[in-house]
Amino acid sequence: MTGGLYAAFSPATAQQAQTDAQLVEQGRELFLVGCSSCHGLNGEGVATEREGYNIGPSLVGVGAAAVDFQVATGRMPMASPSHQAPRKDPVYNDEEIAAMAAFVASLGPGPAIPSEEDYSVDGLSEEERQEAIVRGGQIFLTNCTACHNFNGSGGAMPRGGYAPSLKGVDEKHIYEAMLTGPQAMDVFSNGNIPPEAKRDVIAYLKSLEEEPEYGGFGLGGLGPVSEGLFAWLIGIGSLVGFAVWIAAHSTRSKKDKVEA
Ligand code: HEC
Ligand code: HEC
Repeated sequence: MTGGLYAAFSPATAQQAQTDAQLVEQGRELFLVGCSSCHGLNGEGVATEREGYNIGPSLVGVGAAAVDFQVATGRMPMASPSHQAPRKDPVYNDEEIAAMAAFVASLGPGPAIPSEEDYSVDGLSEEERQEAIVRGGQIFLTNCTACHNFNGSGGAMPRGGYAPSLKGVDEKHIYEAMLTGPQAMDVFSNGNIPPEAKRDVIAYLKSLEEEPEYGGFGLGGLGPVSEGLFAWLIGIGSLVGFAVWIAAHSTRSKKDKVEA
């Protein structure tokens, strides 16, 4: 029986290891061509002469999730080194991204690419989903609004940078962004925000997309500053204008004119 079991299972695992090695090799080749000029031949990073600065950072230990996020959102390969990597159309297809992710994961242990059950809310009942949205909103409020604004519409960052809008971002990429903290964003490790709480944040962000703007014109969703400014200038301004109009058209002002 032991022999039978061994025969049944061992070729499959050998095959698996074989394809993994092939994937890593394929990823390494793509990496050498597209990424090594900034990240080094072995992903060790390329330092500049100025101490502490690099053309591209070391990718040892950033994990497959970071590669999947950066390349699938088109951020990498970067056109030129800078501290803001804007979202672009991806250059590589899914298979190539998986290969490069496997290569970078082989350099050192790091966060793996999340699977659908980590980030999807499809398996939840409507009630559970509503609860997840409420919890996610709380987590978003404490951890993300400082940079991404109250309804995830993004905002300015120091040194000319910006935190992008979170509307229309793939669920998987939201999860990976939290897990790996791209560029100027903080890392929210699973110890900090556990996987289930990450899923709740995603549920919340997706619920914002479904929500119509109840107030009509949302003033760009920029929060209290723009809303306050609007109330002062347009709201109070028109009240003052109206008061002046009333004063000019009241009986007393007309009578004054008649007497004069
Ligand atoms: C023109 C230079 C350049 C090229 C080409 C480039 N990168 Fe990058 N990459 C950077 C820089 C600079 C950063 C760091 C940005 C920051 O954090 O401010 C970075 C960051 C990353 C990160 C995030 C690391 C982390 O700590 O989370 C990953 C992953 C990555 N690159 C993968 C790739 C892959 C894969 C390719 C090839 C498809 C590639 N890069 C091509 C310059 C480059
Ligand atoms: C310190 C400011 C900061 C905080 C806090 C922050 N982010 Fe970010 N976030 C950024 C910046 C900056 C970027 C853009 C990175 C780049 O240049 O590639 C970003 C990018 C993202 C992206 C990628 C968007 C896209 O277009 O692909 C997602 C998703 C995201 N953040 C989600 C979150 C969530 C969820 C939280 C809270 C748990 C959070 N962020 C907290 C600054 C922040």
